[in-house]
Amino acid sequence: MTGGGALDAPVHEPPTTKEGWAAFVGQQPSRVELLPPAGLAALDAAGRDAYEQARLAHHARLIVVATPDGRPDRQDWPPVDGAQQRHRHRSRGLVVTGDSGTGKSTAIKQLGKHHELLARRRRAAGGPFLPVVYVTVPPAATPKVLAAEFARFLGLPLPPNLNQVNITNAVCDVLCRLGTDLVLVDEIHNLNLATRGGAESSDQFA
Ligand SMILES: Nc1ncnc2c1ncn2[C@@H]1O[C@H](COP(=O)(O)OP(=O)(O)OP(=O)(O)O)[C@@H](O)[C@H]1O
Ligand SMILES: [Mg+2]
Repeated sequence: MTGGGALDAPVHEPPTTKEGWAAFVGQQPSRVELLPPAGLAALDAAGRDAYEQARLAHHARLIVVATPDGRPDRQDWPPVDGAQQRHRHRSRGLVVTGDSGTGKSTAIKQLGKHHELLARRRRAAGGPFLPVVYVTVPPAATPKVLAAEFARFLGLPLPPNLNQVNITNAVCDVLCRLGTDLVLVDEIHNLNLATRGGAESSDQFA
């Protein structure tokens, strides 16, 4: 087999951890070079098997189509470039809505990937840097559960005696130190504003 580029190792960590998110951001579309009949005929059984496996893996990895909804330069996305500087002292939010399966998660993750790649390219300083955080809201999330999701993304240890305020403070402290300026919260409909826990969780984003 002659590959146009090695396939990335499969990503096992979910994007809701910093390791999984980094793997997602680093993912490149795979490429497989099709062999002409003579090249195929020249392969032994093991080579043919490896070639077929790589070809199947390539086709199983669906690409993300650059639809207008997912374009990172849309005017209604929050500023993710130099314009961010003008708003650095206040946070801005954007809610993405749509029917089930219409590509909301895909679009916000593409936005996050675009922002992270741009932020890393522009960063002059060294040291730890985590421009984007991606969490999903579990069903019926309380403020503590939500804070724990952020801690889980960051890999912060969660001793059982930590209360919600401790976790939230630790998370905010780490996010500030790591220069995070884009927080993606998926499945936010799981916050039920009719319950006290849901309303308090919602307040946490303020
Ligand atoms: N731009 C795209 N290119 C290729 N596939 C896409 C694109 N957008 C969405 N999909 C695919 O469509 C499916 C649904 O997308 P996604 O999970 O982002 O939708 P969603 O709106 O977040 O759904 P839900 O409401 O269930 O959370 C997924 O398999 C995803 O890979
Ligand atoms: Mg989704």
